[in-house]
Amino acid sequence: MKRPITLLFLICTLCSPVIAQDLMTNVYGRDFRLLNGKWEAIIDQYSQGRKNKIYQNKTPQGKTDFYEYSFEHGLRLNVPSDWNSQMPELKYYEGTVWYARRFDAKKEAGKRLFLYFGAVNYRCHIYLNGTEIGKHEGGFTPFQIEITDKVKDTGNFLAVEVNNTRTVDAIPAMAFDWWNYGGITRDVMLVSTPQIFIKDYFIQLDKNKANQIDVRVQLSEHIGNANLEVEIPELKIKRKLTTNNQGMGSITISNIKKLERWSPNSPKLYKVIVSSDNDMVEEMIGFRNIVVKGEDIYLNDEPIFLKSISFHEEIPQRKGRAFSEADAVMLLSEAKALGCNMIRLAHYPQNEYTVRQAEKMGFLLWEEIPIWQGIDFESEQTKLKAGGMIREMVIRDKNRCALGFWGVANETQPSPARNEFLKHLIECCKDIDTTRLIVAAFDLVRFNRERQVFVMNDPFIKELDVVAVNKYMGWYHQWPVTPDKAIWDVARGQPLIISEFGGEALYGKTGDADVVSSWSEDYQATLFRDNLEMFKHIPNLRGTSPWILFDFRSPFRFHPTNQEDWNRKGLVSDQGFRKKAWYIMREYYKNK
Ligand code: GCU
Repeated sequence: MKRPITLLFLICTLCSPVIAQDLMTNVYGRDFRLLNGKWEAIIDQYSQGRKNKIYQNKTPQGKTDFYEYSFEHGLRLNVPSDWNSQMPELKYYEGTVWYARRFDAKKEAGKRLFLYFGAVNYRCHIYLNGTEIGKHEGGFTPFQIEITDKVKDTGNFLAVEVNNTRTVDAIPAMAFDWWNYGGITRDVMLVSTPQIFIKDYFIQLDKNKANQIDVRVQLSEHIGNANLEVEIPELKIKRKLTTNNQGMGSITISNIKKLERWSPNSPKLYKVIVSSDNDMVEEMIGFRNIVVKGEDIYLNDEPIFLKSISFHEEIPQRKGRAFSEADAVMLLSEAKALGCNMIRLAHYPQNEYTVRQAEKMGFLLWEEIPIWQGIDFESEQTKLKAGGMIREMVIRDKNRCALGFWGVANETQPSPARNEFLKHLIECCKDIDTTRLIVAAFDLVRFNRERQVFVMNDPFIKELDVVAVNKYMGWYHQWPVTPDKAIWDVARGQPLIISEFGGEALYGKTGDADVVSSWSEDYQATLFRDNLEMFKHIPNLRGTSPWILFDFRSPFRFHPTNQEDWNRKGLVSDQGFRKKAWYIMREYYKNK
């Protein structure tokens, strides 16, 4: 449960990249109106718009006035959606795009109004009625800005300046193996709340008990002795709480009878109602225990093998960012057909529909911020920025019992600066949530010829609950021994997950089952069979996650016939066709 407010918590909060309030929990369970749809847009290739104050949306009044822009009668882009997939001219665009729309706000006495963005990639400034009201950095986490005293009843002009240019101090930084989709990529909403509202709550099964629920509720104001109530009707639970002088109420509900714990095979969720004197929020919440004991991962007191898969937040057929519930159902249904019980959401927090739908369908989740290979670990500012991002992820999803793992890094190289950076991220997670397992993926496993075993040397793994390894045997690394002799001695004493393995294949290409450069399905199938053989010789292996469910777009996959800006490691092609390796993996998971 929550630790006392620490200096670190304050640092994470103050240094969060958002000039906006802390996120309210469960925004979809509140009184909201979507501002989705077609917005006007201006492509600002040299980022001149802010200097020219185009967010004031001026129009000529006198005979001598003129403005070299107008938001009316021009380009219109869908929100949510990336811009790259909406126009051929924007496929490779990196730079600034302005979005704008008008909205009416039914202002009600005693109510507060917030603008909420599910995500904007990568950085943005928000302007309302000609004035900047906030900004945010980070392409994959939500932010909100209160507009109660800034909004008019009708004709509000909202402008959003979005820029997706890669920079050294960004997260991710200068080169990453996915498309740099820019834009307002998730839902935008107007959220109305009472003057004093339920801002946050954390309701989870105690980490080590099967019948005890810990509840913490935070009001928007620091007022003491306010009445709160938590109800779980199906468990016949109704408890009253009162807030302390920080506006926070907490209670432990123990000896709960007949609580059915959530699991992938039985994804049981309960309606939970949180109410105060003048607010009420409800949502479906599941309860489960997940702990590590030695080299095993226990879910609800049973050891579990993680039959995982990764996917990017992309609908390949649409060649664009996934953002809707329908997109989530499509991606997750394909993972369900494969026989998975877990998803590693690569390589960034994905939209809330995907997280909630995965929970409903019965998938454990590993979620991470894009600490991907080359991050500026020496920069204090970047470290604090990353802390703010991981906090936003944990704040948003901490009530999702499907979330079993917070990932803090992907393929980082050992160094004191890297270690300090990642320890800060672990602290930021634990400052909010101490119930989940901390994991990181490494690509440091090497074959030791003297010992004839695969080994890894990165003492940082002791900071983790679970160790994950990305290893591309048969692709980036050829076999030093035959797969049946490929013995691992890595991270013994801890659970180990193979968080990435695989190789590329162009759907429909066959033959050459022993030729890496063939890009054939038959070679990919050979590679999968060989890796599955090697996995038998990893004594502490507790999960596998092939890279990756679908072919995905990447700016550095140049081959003109095999790739064409696509990374072809998918078990399923960009058109949704299953490759031969898909069937090998499904058989493996079915028999696990
Ligand atoms: C890396 C990385 C992935 C990347 C993959 C690949 O391990 O984590 O993001 O796509 O390898 O090279 O295909």
